[in-house]
Amino acid sequence: MTGSTALVTGSTSGIGTAIAKELAQRGAHVLVCGRDAERGERVVGDLRGAGGRADFIPADLGGGAAAAKDLAARAQRVADRNVDILVNNAAVGIIAPTADMPESGFDAAIATNLAAPYYLVGALAPAMAETGKGAIVNIASMAGEFALPGMSVYGATKAALLFLTKSWAAEFGPRGVRVNAVTVGPTRTPGSAELGEALDALAAQAPAGRVADPAEIASAVVFLISGAASFVHGAALSVDGGRTAV
Ligand SMILES: NC(=O)c1ccc[n+]([C@@H]2O[C@H](COP(=O)([O-])OP(=O)(O)OC[C@H]3O[C@@H](n4cnc5c(N)ncnc54)[C@H](OP(=O)(O)O)[C@@H]3O)[C@@H](O)[C@H]2O)c1
Repeated sequence: MTGSTALVTGSTSGIGTAIAKELAQRGAHVLVCGRDAERGERVVGDLRGAGGRADFIPADLGGGAAAAKDLAARAQRVADRNVDILVNNAAVGIIAPTADMPESGFDAAIATNLAAPYYLVGALAPAMAETGKGAIVNIASMAGEFALPGMSVYGATKAALLFLTKSWAAEFGPRGVRVNAVTVGPTRTPGSAELGEALDALAAQAPAGRVADPAEIASAVVFLISGAASFVHGAALSVDGGRTAV
Protein backbone atom coordinates (compact mmCIF):
# COMPACT_ATOMS: atom_id res chain seq x y z
CA MET A 1 0.00 0.00 0.00
CA THR A 2 3.05 2.24 -0.25
CA GLY A 3 2.17 5.38 -2.18
CA SER A 4 -1.49 5.30 -1.20
CA THR A 5 -3.35 7.59 1.18
CA ALA A 6 -5.95 6.16 3.57
CA LEU A 7 -8.56 8.15 5.48
CA VAL A 8 -9.87 6.11 8.42
CA THR A 9 -12.73 7.83 10.26
CA GLY A 10 -12.98 7.12 13.97
CA SER A 11 -9.36 6.00 14.17
CA THR A 12 -8.69 7.67 17.52
CA SER A 13 -10.08 4.55 19.23
CA GLY A 14 -10.84 0.84 19.05
CA ILE A 15 -11.35 -0.80 15.68
CA GLY A 16 -10.40 2.35 13.77
CA THR A 17 -7.03 2.55 15.52
CA ALA A 18 -6.37 -1.13 14.73
CA ILE A 19 -7.20 -0.51 11.05
CA ALA A 20 -4.95 2.58 10.98
CA LYS A 21 -2.07 0.53 12.42
CA GLU A 22 -2.44 -2.25 9.85
CA LEU A 23 -2.58 0.20 6.95
CA ALA A 24 0.41 2.21 8.19
CA GLN A 25 2.42 -0.99 8.63
CA ARG A 26 1.72 -1.78 4.97
CA GLY A 27 3.07 1.60 3.85
CA ALA A 28 -0.07 3.71 3.44
CA HIS A 29 -0.05 7.35 4.53
CA VAL A 30 -2.81 7.15 7.13
CA LEU A 31 -5.04 10.11 7.95
CA VAL A 32 -6.24 9.52 11.49
CA CYS A 33 -9.58 11.15 12.22
CA GLY A 34 -11.84 11.82 15.19
CA ARG A 35 -12.97 14.58 17.55
CA ASP A 36 -10.46 13.92 20.33
CA ALA A 37 -7.16 15.61 19.40
CA GLU A 38 -5.28 14.11 22.34
CA ARG A 39 -6.19 10.53 21.39
CA GLY A 40 -5.60 11.35 17.72
CA GLU A 41 -2.08 12.71 18.29
CA ARG A 42 -1.30 9.68 20.47
CA VAL A 43 -2.33 7.28 17.69
CA VAL A 44 -0.31 9.28 15.14
CA GLY A 45 2.69 9.18 17.49
CA ASP A 46 2.40 5.39 17.79
CA LEU A 47 2.12 4.92 14.02
CA ARG A 48 5.10 7.18 13.33
CA GLY A 49 7.07 5.51 16.15
CA ALA A 50 6.56 2.19 14.38
CA GLY A 51 7.96 3.69 11.16
CA GLY A 52 4.65 4.57 9.53
CA ARG A 53 3.39 7.78 7.93
CA ALA A 54 0.39 9.37 9.64
CA ASP A 55 -1.33 12.70 10.30
CA PHE A 56 -4.26 13.62 12.52
CA ILE A 57 -7.23 15.49 11.06
CA PRO A 58 -9.80 16.53 13.67
CA ALA A 59 -13.44 16.34 12.64
CA ASP A 60 -16.84 16.09 14.26
CA LEU A 61 -18.86 13.98 11.86
CA GLY A 62 -22.00 14.61 13.88
CA GLY A 63 -22.20 17.71 11.67
CA GLY A 64 -23.44 15.63 8.73
CA ALA A 65 -22.95 16.81 5.14
CA ALA A 66 -20.99 19.99 5.83
CA ALA A 67 -18.63 18.28 8.28
CA ALA A 68 -17.99 15.35 5.95
CA LYS A 69 -17.34 17.55 2.91
CA ASP A 70 -14.99 19.72 4.96
CA LEU A 71 -13.11 16.63 6.20
CA ALA A 72 -12.76 15.33 2.64
CA ALA A 73 -11.30 18.65 1.47
CA ARG A 74 -8.86 18.84 4.39
CA ALA A 75 -7.81 15.20 3.89
CA GLN A 76 -6.88 15.94 0.26
CA ARG A 77 -4.95 19.03 1.35
CA VAL A 78 -3.01 17.24 4.10
CA ALA A 79 -2.22 14.33 1.80
CA ASP A 80 -1.44 16.73 -1.06
CA ARG A 81 -3.01 14.17 -3.40
CA ASN A 82 -6.15 12.09 -3.78
CA VAL A 83 -7.33 9.88 -0.98
CA ASP A 84 -7.41 6.39 -2.49
CA ILE A 85 -8.52 4.36 0.53
CA LEU A 86 -11.51 5.36 2.66
CA VAL A 87 -12.67 3.42 5.72
CA ASN A 88 -16.02 4.63 7.05
CA ASN A 89 -15.62 3.47 10.63
CA ALA A 90 -16.74 6.33 12.93
CA ALA A 91 -20.11 5.68 14.51
CA VAL A 92 -22.15 6.32 17.60
CA GLY A 93 -23.66 3.20 19.15
CA ILE A 94 -26.61 4.81 20.85
CA ILE A 95 -28.87 2.28 22.57
CA ALA A 96 -32.37 3.08 23.86
CA PRO A 97 -35.92 1.79 23.46
CA THR A 98 -37.65 3.59 20.61
CA ALA A 99 -40.06 5.41 22.92
CA ASP A 100 -37.18 6.75 25.01
CA MET A 101 -34.71 7.64 22.25
CA PRO A 102 -33.72 11.29 22.64
CA GLU A 103 -34.05 13.27 19.43
CA SER A 104 -30.39 14.25 19.83
CA GLY A 105 -29.40 10.55 19.86
CA PHE A 106 -31.44 9.78 16.76
CA ASP A 107 -29.96 12.80 14.95
CA ALA A 108 -26.38 11.97 16.02
CA ALA A 109 -26.70 8.37 14.78
CA ILE A 110 -28.10 9.42 11.41
CA ALA A 111 -25.48 12.15 10.97
CA THR A 112 -22.42 10.17 12.08
CA ASN A 113 -23.26 6.64 10.97
CA LEU A 114 -25.06 7.40 7.73
CA ALA A 115 -24.80 10.97 6.44
CA ALA A 116 -21.04 11.22 7.03
CA PRO A 117 -20.15 8.07 5.03
CA TYR A 118 -22.60 9.17 2.32
CA TYR A 119 -21.06 12.60 1.85
CA LEU A 120 -17.48 11.36 2.27
CA VAL A 121 -18.01 8.88 -0.54
CA GLY A 122 -19.68 11.60 -2.61
CA ALA A 123 -16.68 13.86 -2.08
CA LEU A 124 -13.86 11.32 -2.47
CA ALA A 125 -15.00 8.48 -4.73
CA PRO A 126 -15.29 10.52 -7.98
CA ALA A 127 -11.58 11.45 -7.74
CA MET A 128 -10.71 7.80 -7.08
CA ALA A 129 -12.77 6.83 -10.13
CA GLU A 130 -10.91 9.38 -12.25
CA THR A 131 -7.62 7.67 -11.44
CA GLY A 132 -9.23 4.25 -12.05
CA LYS A 133 -8.44 2.85 -8.61
CA GLY A 134 -9.60 3.05 -5.05
CA ALA A 135 -10.99 1.03 -2.17
CA ILE A 136 -13.75 1.90 0.26
CA VAL A 137 -14.69 -0.23 3.26
CA ASN A 138 -17.77 0.52 5.35
CA ILE A 139 -17.80 -0.73 8.91
CA ALA A 140 -21.26 -2.14 9.48
CA SER A 141 -22.55 -4.37 12.26
CA MET A 142 -24.33 -7.65 12.79
CA ALA A 143 -26.91 -5.39 14.51
CA GLY A 144 -27.81 -4.18 11.02
CA GLU A 145 -28.64 -7.74 9.95
CA PHE A 146 -30.92 -8.87 12.76
CA ALA A 147 -32.85 -6.92 15.36
CA LEU A 148 -31.75 -6.40 18.94
CA PRO A 149 -33.91 -4.54 21.48
CA GLY A 150 -32.74 -0.95 21.94
CA MET A 151 -30.69 -0.97 18.75
CA SER A 152 -33.40 0.17 16.34
CA VAL A 153 -31.75 3.39 15.17
CA TYR A 154 -28.19 2.06 15.34
CA GLY A 155 -29.20 -1.11 13.46
CA ALA A 156 -31.12 0.90 10.87
CA THR A 157 -28.07 3.07 10.11
CA LYS A 158 -25.89 -0.05 9.73
CA ALA A 159 -28.48 -1.80 7.52
CA ALA A 160 -28.61 1.31 5.35
CA LEU A 161 -24.81 1.32 5.14
CA LEU A 162 -24.93 -2.23 3.76
CA PHE A 163 -27.36 -1.10 1.08
CA LEU A 164 -25.17 1.89 0.27
CA THR A 165 -22.20 -0.48 -0.05
CA LYS A 166 -23.98 -2.26 -2.91
CA SER A 167 -25.19 1.02 -4.44
CA TRP A 168 -21.67 2.44 -4.45
CA ALA A 169 -20.25 -0.80 -5.88
CA ALA A 170 -22.71 -0.37 -8.76
CA GLU A 171 -21.87 3.32 -9.16
CA PHE A 172 -18.09 3.34 -8.78
CA GLY A 173 -17.03 -0.29 -9.37
CA PRO A 174 -17.04 -0.02 -13.18
CA ARG A 175 -14.47 2.78 -12.83
CA GLY A 176 -12.06 0.78 -10.65
CA VAL A 177 -13.24 1.66 -7.16
CA ARG A 178 -14.09 -1.38 -5.05
CA VAL A 179 -16.63 -0.79 -2.28
CA ASN A 180 -17.21 -3.42 0.40
CA ALA A 181 -18.37 -3.74 4.00
CA VAL A 182 -17.42 -5.66 7.11
CA THR A 183 -20.29 -6.63 9.41
CA VAL A 184 -18.71 -6.63 12.82
CA GLY A 185 -19.70 -8.69 15.86
CA PRO A 186 -18.96 -7.99 19.54
CA THR A 187 -15.46 -6.51 19.78
CA ARG A 188 -13.51 -5.31 22.85
CA THR A 189 -13.03 -1.54 22.40
CA PRO A 190 -13.33 1.61 24.52
CA GLY A 191 -16.71 2.20 22.86
CA SER A 192 -18.12 -1.24 23.69
CA ALA A 193 -16.77 -1.20 27.27
CA GLU A 194 -19.92 0.55 28.46
CA LEU A 195 -21.93 -2.58 27.55
CA GLY A 196 -20.09 -4.45 30.32
CA GLU A 197 -21.01 -8.12 30.64
CA ALA A 198 -23.77 -7.75 28.04
CA LEU A 199 -21.03 -7.73 25.37
CA ASP A 200 -19.72 -11.12 26.55
CA ALA A 201 -23.26 -12.49 26.80
CA LEU A 202 -23.94 -11.42 23.20
CA ALA A 203 -20.66 -12.94 22.03
CA ALA A 204 -21.35 -16.22 23.86
CA GLN A 205 -24.26 -16.90 21.45
CA ALA A 206 -21.93 -17.21 18.43
CA PRO A 207 -19.86 -20.23 17.36
CA ALA A 208 -16.64 -18.42 18.31
CA GLY A 209 -18.13 -17.91 21.78
CA ARG A 210 -16.00 -14.89 22.63
CA VAL A 211 -15.53 -11.20 22.04
CA ALA A 212 -13.20 -10.21 19.16
CA ASP A 213 -9.97 -8.26 19.41
CA PRO A 214 -9.98 -5.12 17.17
CA ALA A 215 -7.01 -6.56 15.24
CA GLU A 216 -9.27 -9.42 14.05
CA ILE A 217 -11.62 -6.89 12.46
CA ALA A 218 -8.72 -4.86 11.04
CA SER A 219 -7.25 -7.87 9.22
CA ALA A 220 -10.56 -8.40 7.38
CA VAL A 221 -10.63 -4.72 6.40
CA VAL A 222 -7.06 -4.91 5.12
CA PHE A 223 -7.98 -7.96 3.05
CA LEU A 224 -10.86 -6.09 1.39
CA ILE A 225 -8.60 -3.12 0.62
CA SER A 226 -5.74 -5.25 -0.68
CA GLY A 227 -5.16 -6.68 -4.13
CA ALA A 228 -6.02 -10.10 -2.69
CA ALA A 229 -9.67 -8.96 -2.89
CA SER A 230 -9.37 -7.64 -6.46
CA PHE A 231 -12.58 -9.42 -7.59
CA VAL A 232 -14.60 -8.52 -4.48
CA HIS A 233 -17.16 -5.75 -5.07
CA GLY A 234 -20.24 -4.87 -3.03
CA ALA A 235 -19.67 -7.64 -0.49
CA ALA A 236 -20.52 -7.70 3.20
CA LEU A 237 -17.91 -9.82 4.96
CA SER A 238 -19.24 -11.14 8.28
CA VAL A 239 -16.59 -10.92 10.99
CA ASP A 240 -18.88 -11.74 13.87
CA GLY A 241 -17.64 -15.07 15.22
CA GLY A 242 -20.33 -16.77 13.14
CA ARG A 243 -23.29 -15.14 14.92
CA THR A 244 -25.32 -14.28 11.80
CA ALA A 245 -24.68 -17.70 10.24
CA VAL A 246 -26.00 -19.72 13.16
N1 LIG B 1 -17.14 -2.74 19.25
C1 LIG B 1 -18.13 -3.50 18.83
O1 LIG B 1 -18.57 -4.46 19.51
C2 LIG B 1 -18.76 -3.24 17.47
C3 LIG B 1 -19.71 -4.15 17.00
C4 LIG B 1 -20.28 -3.91 15.75
C5 LIG B 1 -19.90 -2.83 14.99
N2 LIG B 1 -18.98 -1.96 15.49
C6 LIG B 1 -18.63 -0.80 14.66
O2 LIG B 1 -17.23 -0.65 14.61
C7 LIG B 1 -16.89 0.74 14.47
C8 LIG B 1 -15.89 1.16 15.53
O3 LIG B 1 -16.43 0.86 16.81
P1 LIG B 1 -15.53 0.87 18.13
O4 LIG B 1 -16.15 -0.14 19.04
O5 LIG B 1 -14.09 0.80 17.79
O6 LIG B 1 -15.94 2.32 18.71
P2 LIG B 1 -15.19 3.35 19.68
O7 LIG B 1 -14.12 2.70 20.46
O8 LIG B 1 -16.30 4.02 20.42
O9 LIG B 1 -14.58 4.36 18.64
C9 LIG B 1 -15.45 5.15 17.87
C10 LIG B 1 -14.64 6.08 17.00
O10 LIG B 1 -15.56 6.90 16.27
C11 LIG B 1 -15.20 8.25 16.46
N3 LIG B 1 -16.40 9.08 16.47
C12 LIG B 1 -17.53 8.91 17.17
N4 LIG B 1 -18.37 9.93 16.97
C13 LIG B 1 -17.72 10.78 16.13
C14 LIG B 1 -18.06 12.02 15.56
N5 LIG B 1 -19.21 12.64 15.83
N6 LIG B 1 -17.18 12.61 14.72
C15 LIG B 1 -15.98 12.02 14.46
N7 LIG B 1 -15.61 10.84 14.97
C16 LIG B 1 -16.47 10.23 15.81
C17 LIG B 1 -14.48 8.30 17.82
O11 LIG B 1 -13.54 9.35 17.83
P3 LIG B 1 -13.57 10.59 18.82
O12 LIG B 1 -14.12 10.13 20.13
O13 LIG B 1 -12.14 11.03 18.87
O14 LIG B 1 -14.44 11.56 18.14
C18 LIG B 1 -13.75 6.97 17.82
O15 LIG B 1 -12.51 7.08 17.17
C19 LIG B 1 -18.22 1.50 14.52
O16 LIG B 1 -18.67 1.73 13.23
C20 LIG B 1 -19.14 0.52 15.22
O17 LIG B 1 -20.51 0.74 14.91
C21 LIG B 1 -18.41 -2.14 16.70
